[in-house]
Amino acid sequence: GLVRFLDGHRPAHDLTYDDVFLVPNRSDVESRFDVDLSTVDGTGATIPIVVANMTAVAGRRMAETVARRGGLVVLPQDVDPAAVAEIVGWVKSRHTVWDTPLVLTGGDAVADALNLVGKRAHGAVVVVDEENRPVGIVDENACAGVDRFSRLSEVAEPPAVTLPLDTPAREVFERLHAAGARLALGVDGDGKLVGVLTQTAALRAEIYTPAVDDRNRLRVAAAIGVNGDVAAKAEAVLNAGVDVLVVDTAHGHQEKMIAALKAVRSVSPQVPVVAGNVVTAEGTRDLIEAGADVVKVGVGPGAMCTTRMMTGVGRPQFSAVAECAAAARELGKHVWADGGIRHPRDVALALAAGASAAMVGSWFAGTHESPGDLRYDEQGRPYKESFGMASKRAVAGRTRTDNVFDRARKALFEEGISSSRMLLDPARPGVEDLLDSICSGVRSSFTYAGARNVEEFYERATLGIQSAAGFAEGRPLPAGW
Ligand code: XMP
Repeated sequence: GLVRFLDGHRPAHDLTYDDVFLVPNRSDVESRFDVDLSTVDGTGATIPIVVANMTAVAGRRMAETVARRGGLVVLPQDVDPAAVAEIVGWVKSRHTVWDTPLVLTGGDAVADALNLVGKRAHGAVVVVDEENRPVGIVDENACAGVDRFSRLSEVAEPPAVTLPLDTPAREVFERLHAAGARLALGVDGDGKLVGVLTQTAALRAEIYTPAVDDRNRLRVAAAIGVNGDVAAKAEAVLNAGVDVLVVDTAHGHQEKMIAALKAVRSVSPQVPVVAGNVVTAEGTRDLIEAGADVVKVGVGPGAMCTTRMMTGVGRPQFSAVAECAAAARELGKHVWADGGIRHPRDVALALAAGASAAMVGSWFAGTHESPGDLRYDEQGRPYKESFGMASKRAVAGRTRTDNVFDRARKALFEEGISSSRMLLDPARPGVEDLLDSICSGVRSSFTYAGARNVEEFYERATLGIQSAAGFAEGRPLPAGW
């Protein structure tokens, strides 16, 4: 199928997400909970969200958190294979329901706990004994007004809810609610600490389905570039145990990419391979013919991209996705819509254009789970930095082993933003808060369209074309207008 426009709505030029809107269809889908968001592109994601392979966004913490909610995180290509192996091993050793705790001992200082609590959306550290058995919980409140050198044994509160790991999430939720406690501790048969769950996390565990491999371990993807010995790199990353391989370069429709895909296919006939980026049907077909299962679409829509301003190259993202998705589907394959996702509506529109998933980068940089350090701006608001993978900063990181002249030469030709402050949304500081908002928005879009799953949504979605004023009308008014 193709994208369906309202009668009389004919695109006179290429469109981006802001140019289009969805109209409600007659629907028999009554509830957002009757909707299945699972992808059908073979990558195993149970929600149509992939986290972009950007150094400022995708690390181990992002990977475990997003995979628990069914999404997929792509580790960036500038992580060396040994580090990829270590991260993948770590992600795959995580519990699929219980979150990884921050752990200290009673002899550690309050200052140690305060340094750590900002690293977790749940904002607490578990105090354990020498046997890794939990003895207390410390959060920011417990540390308030206390000397920074005090021992945690003096300030920790006894855990209110400690449960076996196989306790159903709903029961964890109810026990926390009854106890008026914020954090449940999950322990193994020996009483040793394995994980933590907040009430919200327990609720999410009932709503989302983790993205897991055939051994029930969390799924994770990794990217490689098209330079050097691609087959060796692909093999190293696959040996590390990644579930999906992404072959990524800014200009994906080039000979080097075709050769890289053939090299990858020679070492890994089975694993799903994603390749990009392209914005044309021809590019999509060429990458699929060379071995890609999923084609990554987007040149220049990304928040950190300067490609369009530097080169004039790119294509408005909605049309790019629609054309490439149609071409991929003719061959029984799929596309990911990569870049420019800033609202839940953009994900819905990417799916309406025919993408099997949307890739999100910078929007997720400003969360507790992104790898960057939490900083505070002049007004005291928390933020993290994002930067483009083609920026001077990222290039300098990638070329660490080059000689000084080559490093400088490569960094001179940047096509990305080196530093942009991504504020943590006070109402949604964790990536899971953003996933909740995206998934509830997209589930609702499905009910408006009368679709129960991603494929039905692509078939049924009816779109219109709007002016900038039409888009502006849909934005909530700012406070005090
Ligand atoms: P968002 O908008 O989610 O987009 O941040 C993520 C995608 O942006 C691309 N990307 C770049 N493109 N120069 C570019 O032209 C860059 O430095 C750059 N960094 C990331 C990439 O496709 C990513 O998935």
